[in-house]
Amino acid sequence: MRSFRAMTEPLRIVRCGVGTAGVAWLVDDDGRLRQLAAGPAWATATADLPAMLYPQAYPTIGDGDPFRATPLVVTHANGMLTTRLRVVNVDEADGHLDVVCRDELLVLTVTNHVRAHHDCDVVEQWVTIEHDEPGPITIADVDALCLQLMAAPDAEVCQFGGSGWADEWAWTTERLTPGTKLFDSYGGVQPHLQRSPVLLISPDGRSAETDVDLGVELDVEVAGTVLGLSIAWGGNTRFALDVRPLAGQESRSLRVRAGANSFAAPYVLDPGAVFRTPSVLWTWSTEGRGAVSDRFHRYTRAHALRDPGRTRAIVSNNWEATFFDFDEDRLRGLIERAAAVGAELFLLDDGWFGDRYPRDHDGQGLGDWMVDERKLPNGLAAVSAATIDAGLRFGIWVEPEMVNERSELYETHPEWVLRDARTPLEHRQQLLLDPLQPDVAAFIDGVVADAIAAGPGTSYVKWDANRPITDSGSSTLPADRQANVWTDLVWATWARMAAVAEAHPDVDLMLCASGGGRVDHGSLRWFHEFWTSDNTDPVTRVAMQWACSHFFPASAMAAHVTRWGERPMAFACAVALWGRFGIDLDLTALSDDDLAVVERAVVVAKRIRDVVQHGRLHRLVSPVDGPHAGRRAAVSYVSADRSRAVVLAYELEAGEREAAPDLLLRGLDPEATYDLVALPLTGDAASDVDVAGATGVRDGDALPWPLTEPLTASVLELTRRYRSHS
Ligand code: GLA
Repeated sequence: MRSFRAMTEPLRIVRCGVGTAGVAWLVDDDGRLRQLAAGPAWATATADLPAMLYPQAYPTIGDGDPFRATPLVVTHANGMLTTRLRVVNVDEADGHLDVVCRDELLVLTVTNHVRAHHDCDVVEQWVTIEHDEPGPITIADVDALCLQLMAAPDAEVCQFGGSGWADEWAWTTERLTPGTKLFDSYGGVQPHLQRSPVLLISPDGRSAETDVDLGVELDVEVAGTVLGLSIAWGGNTRFALDVRPLAGQESRSLRVRAGANSFAAPYVLDPGAVFRTPSVLWTWSTEGRGAVSDRFHRYTRAHALRDPGRTRAIVSNNWEATFFDFDEDRLRGLIERAAAVGAELFLLDDGWFGDRYPRDHDGQGLGDWMVDERKLPNGLAAVSAATIDAGLRFGIWVEPEMVNERSELYETHPEWVLRDARTPLEHRQQLLLDPLQPDVAAFIDGVVADAIAAGPGTSYVKWDANRPITDSGSSTLPADRQANVWTDLVWATWARMAAVAEAHPDVDLMLCASGGGRVDHGSLRWFHEFWTSDNTDPVTRVAMQWACSHFFPASAMAAHVTRWGERPMAFACAVALWGRFGIDLDLTALSDDDLAVVERAVVVAKRIRDVVQHGRLHRLVSPVDGPHAGRRAAVSYVSADRSRAVVLAYELEAGEREAAPDLLLRGLDPEATYDLVALPLTGDAASDVDVAGATGVRDGDALPWPLTEPLTASVLELTRRYRSHS
């Protein structure tokens, strides 16, 4: 039961958290909210000092340290720029904490919401704002989260920002030095192409994967404190890490702010309306990054991913095989081959639509969702029927929020695009439809519904979005609140995704935006998986998947075998096995040897996928930092009941043999022994002989590194054989 009580007593302490993640706040004599603790001390911290000595938990401009940026900046209806919040109510229940603050002078209410997710040890925070001032207010800046921490001189931060398309999930670790570091994203629609909205902070200094409690050296030396954060927002995001030296102390003060990026997006809020920030999810590990990932995987399964327990199908996509150049016969050939190699779902990608402007390239036809009868004279129905007859499920690609200028849709409805009074700029020769317009919203829903209906039996949709916002403006918004579009567009887009998910509960949805441009814990809620990146060169993908695996489980991370990089087929397949396995190959043109490898990989995928998709991840050898960076990588997955495990090891580049790491088995049942078999993807299993066929393998055992040649991989399977106390 919830209790709702007025904050009259001074020094009231309120707490909310789970495990080592949480906050303890106290209310000082003046009613200001102060942070007593953030992190492991949340549950036990006591107020030993005068309240005024604790930092403000959610400072505002005009009521906080004047030398630091605050999480809230509002211009009030009367033009005032300062805000002074005082706690008026606390709503507390098991795992819930809502602290309601009111401005001391103006009728403005700001509520800090905290939820402790006990099923995954993740804390969720967001802020709501409402007011009854005599006119609209402007929210110039608002963060969902503000934590005040101490940072050691060698504190580090790890960010995931690359150059853009095909470069998602780049890994950069750097020292936190005095000053403010911003990790922000832009573009509005596919911002995560440039920077994933996640961060790892190691406030106590360098961190590593695990607590080394096995007496054997990992390739990483120490574990330590790691704060993992994720902004659940499909638009621009921002982390601000402000480090300030403290007089006479080695440690520094670190203010962590996180939320939507307010760049060019001041929000005008009417009296009576409620503004909600996105949620920021965070967890605090004292045992390294591995525990952060485990918690985010559990969060993803419990609160983000649709049908998390369902093992994902093996997808065969035609995109890299044909691009826009296909017809029904060509597709039938691919479907037949896909069925022959054991794939379970055929996904027809871009290029199947357009009449007056057929979609033969990305410069036209987008928006005209009638089937291209030149390519598919018998419609999508014939393709879906051929697919289903072959024993596969059928999936279809759509990009419902977008339009080419060369399209019948744009000719009919030029007013549907997102724009202001200027001629809008094209990007990938296309424009963005304005989902705030009710007709556009209905159109988006209809695109998906019609595509599904046109191919009876369709049970999978890839929802793509291939351009950012350039002309921020909406005809639905008045002149004084055009900048609201950056925020409103995300909610409007999510409303469409929610409507589609609700209307088609049996259709699996893949989230794609030029690759991984929309991968966040908010957008994912209506999807079953995401397209990790258009970059499928397996050497690059190993590093991307390593980074992505810090926040998302393998079941969500679609990974397809392609010819990018022209790597050996067995290696490409082994990299795709570390995700939701799929194929994007011209299966009609492969050599017999390569085809045999793909067939074998599908067999292996079916054998190991329940462990990989639903198991607990242990990252063993890092391809992005440490002694094997760029050379080797290894991970393992252990099933929930620990009866099975899978180890995936990759040799990326030729390295010195003697420097090869051991494969340290982790997370197995300590009371059991396991049988170990190699699952080779080629007939030549020579590289696996060192470890194949072993019995009596135990948790903590160090297997010799199984690979010698660059661009080779090893897939090992462990099966519990004996349990001493069962
Ligand atoms: C984006 C996607 C690709 C493919 C193309 C089609 O780039 O990321 O996978 O679907 O669009 O145009």
